[in-house]
Amino acid sequence: ALRRAGNIHWQPVDVNKQARAQSLGQTPRCLWFTGLSGAGKSTIANRVEQQLHARGLHAYILDGDNLRHGLNRDLGFTDADRVENIRRVAEVAKLMVDAGLIVLVSFISPFRAEREAARALFAPGEFAEVFVDTALAEAERRDVKGLYAKARAGQLPNFTGIDSPYEAPSTPELHLDTSLQDAQALADQVLDWLVRQA
Ligand code: PPS
Repeated sequence: ALRRAGNIHWQPVDVNKQARAQSLGQTPRCLWFTGLSGAGKSTIANRVEQQLHARGLHAYILDGDNLRHGLNRDLGFTDADRVENIRRVAEVAKLMVDAGLIVLVSFISPFRAEREAARALFAPGEFAEVFVDTALAEAERRDVKGLYAKARAGQLPNFTGIDSPYEAPSTPELHLDTSLQDAQALADQVLDWLVRQA
């Protein structure tokens, strides 16, 4: 259980999210990419970020592999560690949205409850779940990092899709089927969606 500090009060600030967003000329958002390892989350998020950058918009990618080198380097892949991993990144994403950014979160985030807890941190319309849908057999066939082979060989316990569950989103704002379109076309879908919301 988390220990809570007492005597802590929320400190109000004078420049708020709306003012920051206005000076950046954009609507802050959190796009939450979820999917199996090797599904293509990072590839698609990277292309979305490139396009946003090219249009003069301010985005930032929070990537599971990267955050696990720093902020979350004390966490492994047990269910409890994944829950804490997602809790932390959701809070970081909230701070970045508060700073006025378009935040692209790219984590397996396998559990529905944690994704819903993340959503609950945001204002209505600010959070969108992007399901990067790749069949396990296809992710395993690609095996870009060789991790599925290791997991099958019993060298990588708690591997998502093998011996650790992935709970697919039931009503994501965006459902990207990687068997139907390539990464660029899927990134364009995300951008079209963002433009339609603005
Ligand atoms: S989670 O479930 O959201 O906490 O995972 P995440 O922080 O996104 O980290 C996933 C990346 O870690 C590598 N990796 C594993 N993934 C799944 N299960 C196990 N046991 C595991 N061990 C290491 C893997 O490279 C994941 O990267 P992606 O980019 O998703 O392929």
